[in-house]
Amino acid sequence: MSRLAVIGAGYVGLTTAACMARLGHTVVAADIDADRVALLSKGEVPILEEGLPELLAEGLASKRLRFVVGAANAAPDAEFVFLCVPTPQGDDGSADLSFVEAVAREIAPALRPGTVVVNKSTMPVGSTRVVERILAAAGASIEEIGVASNPEFLREGTSVRDFLEPNRVVIGCDDPSVAVRVSELYRGLKAPILVTDSASAEMIKYASNAFLATKISFVNAIANLCEAVDADVREVVLGMGYDTRIGFEFLRPGPGYGGSCFPKDTAALLHAAEQAGYDFTLLQGVVDVNRRQHERMVDKARDLAGGSLDGVRVAALGLTFKANTDDLRDSPAIHIVRRLIEEGARVVAHDPAAPARVLDLVPGLELAGDPYAACAGAGLVAVLTEWDAFRWLDFGRVAAELAEARILDTRNLLDPAAMRRLGFVYEGVGR
Ligand SMILES: NC(=O)c1ccc[n+]([C@@H]2O[C@H](COP(=O)([O-])OP(=O)(O)OC[C@H]3O[C@@H](n4cnc5c(N)ncnc54)[C@H](O)[C@@H]3O)[C@@H](O)[C@H]2O)c1
Repeated sequence: MSRLAVIGAGYVGLTTAACMARLGHTVVAADIDADRVALLSKGEVPILEEGLPELLAEGLASKRLRFVVGAANAAPDAEFVFLCVPTPQGDDGSADLSFVEAVAREIAPALRPGTVVVNKSTMPVGSTRVVERILAAAGASIEEIGVASNPEFLREGTSVRDFLEPNRVVIGCDDPSVAVRVSELYRGLKAPILVTDSASAEMIKYASNAFLATKISFVNAIANLCEAVDADVREVVLGMGYDTRIGFEFLRPGPGYGGSCFPKDTAALLHAAEQAGYDFTLLQGVVDVNRRQHERMVDKARDLAGGSLDGVRVAALGLTFKANTDDLRDSPAIHIVRRLIEEGARVVAHDPAAPARVLDLVPGLELAGDPYAACAGAGLVAVLTEWDAFRWLDFGRVAAELAEARILDTRNLLDPAAMRRLGFVYEGVGR
């Protein structure tokens, strides 16, 4: 078993730290946020992730997991240092590596010979080399230190399961002996381990996310066409999905993709393509379809409201970027709600997990304690996140709360026939 440092205790870092402790390694996790470190040290998880509180408790009790403030305090004794800090979208679309660079500079003087720095954050092709150069410039003896790429594929909401039961583990390093050492950390998992060069590993992550985004935009484009020709996209997807070459996964029409990864990773890949002189029109199309899909939901809301949203009270059900997470980053729901408010609507939202700071993100938004309170007096309900709880609402009661029984179901969560029987004017996506 090995000694690990994990830098950044967010969705990826905290999951990595807790799961690596579960696998038997000794882990010191560092964050720059002292409040977060204090909470975690007490066994409190600041994010919504199934199974993480239990794993955290287990790690703390076994003393295989502890938390410190500052990367430099985690690095000294580590054999492997996992970088799990943000790589947000820069102004030009590229991945902003400033968090990674800052951490590399901070840990360089503390690294022992033989340590491997593992890039788990999503970083563009060439980043392994970038980290090597920064470490060397900041005083690390780079001949004695390895740098590997080990992109993460977990999904928020199921991060623990995805980490412990991955479809695959990808490790990229131009020195095979370093890659093998990293692969041994995952020995307890039943998953194929792909050891490759660093550039290919870095590209695998971007190509995977771009492909998933493509599936979403593709099915949304088909849904839009279904509306025009009076076909039902749900039937279409069912008929497509039985073809094993296509499958059912990720073919769910909706308001467009969002979250902390797909928008920034598609932008970064487009930027990388442009830098490389490759005209990636296919991916540009995916991004354009997605942007228009958000706006299409606003158009549907306006049409349902009779042509104008000015002065219309809208009940927004859901704010997080998808169900079973508290993450609001690049949420299509937030985008749509902002636009509704811009057009003069009064939006009262309910979300089971969105943190209260959502009110800072969307000026003018109001929150309700439950879905029925959100609907009281509203002229339109918009289902914006596919929380299961919304599927099982008492829609008779919802209708009674509303001033007008109109429902925009951007997630195709509800049964249109049942809604119409209850007297709703119902609008979904592609049906
Ligand atoms: N969230 C996902 O679903 C997901 C999935 C796969 C890959 N990724 C990638 O993983 C990386 C991290 O994403 P995330 O969602 O976990 O981000 P996050 O914002 O949830 O967590 C990042 C953490 O790093 C901390 N941090 C920032 N600077 C630091 C520093 N100098 N020292 C120590 N800690 C520092 C922050 O305080 C924060 O807690 C990104 O590159 C992302 O693209 C994310």
